[in-house]
Amino acid sequence: MVKGLSFVGRLASAGLLAALGWTLGQAPAYAQDAAFGRDVWLSQANCADCHGWLADGQPEDPRAPRGANLRDTVLTEEQLVEVILCGRPGTGMPHFDPRAYTDARCYGLTREQLGDATPGASDQTLTNRHAVGLARFILADFAGKGPPTSEDCTALLGEGNARCAALPRATP
Ligand code: HEC
Repeated sequence: MVKGLSFVGRLASAGLLAALGWTLGQAPAYAQDAAFGRDVWLSQANCADCHGWLADGQPEDPRAPRGANLRDTVLTEEQLVEVILCGRPGTGMPHFDPRAYTDARCYGLTREQLGDATPGASDQTLTNRHAVGLARFILADFAGKGPPTSEDCTALLGEGNARCAALPRATP
């Protein structure tokens, strides 16, 4: 019993420390989520096939449909999360929540209601945490940033990447 309580106590203080992280000089929680989202973008999800590594809507996979230019997105974090988990009905944006449209979780709509407009299922599965990370990364690194420069490209993909050399430099 005492053991149980102290475990709860440890959990509570860990939660409190996380909530107060910024006062202790650590990065705020959303920055950690954006860094996690960056990892998901680079090495776990196939968003770049259609959206391009720099999210400018230039597919990396020539057979893939052309994704939206996420650098121009005006969606909020919640809307980004929903589009990622649910896809977008009637378009080529697939859903990454395998249970999307089995109940009303996505836009309040089911597969029965949407019929042919039901988005395709990605063969990848993303959780809410993945989607929040991706949304925060998109907002931090892409949204409103204008066309990608070679510096943006190098910051994301590393030095010596041939595709980065082909992009215009931010500072001539
Ligand atoms: C098979 C191709 C494909 C893949 C893979 C894909 N997308 Fe998309 N995505 C699209 C297309 C096409 C659209 C445009 C939909 C439309 O016409 O509104 C889109 C739209 C979006 C939008 C809406 C943008 C806006 O401002 O309206 C977001 C956000 C998005 N995708 C994020 C992602 C993320 C993040 C991933 C990876 C987890 C991903 N997409 C994977 C094809 C894809």
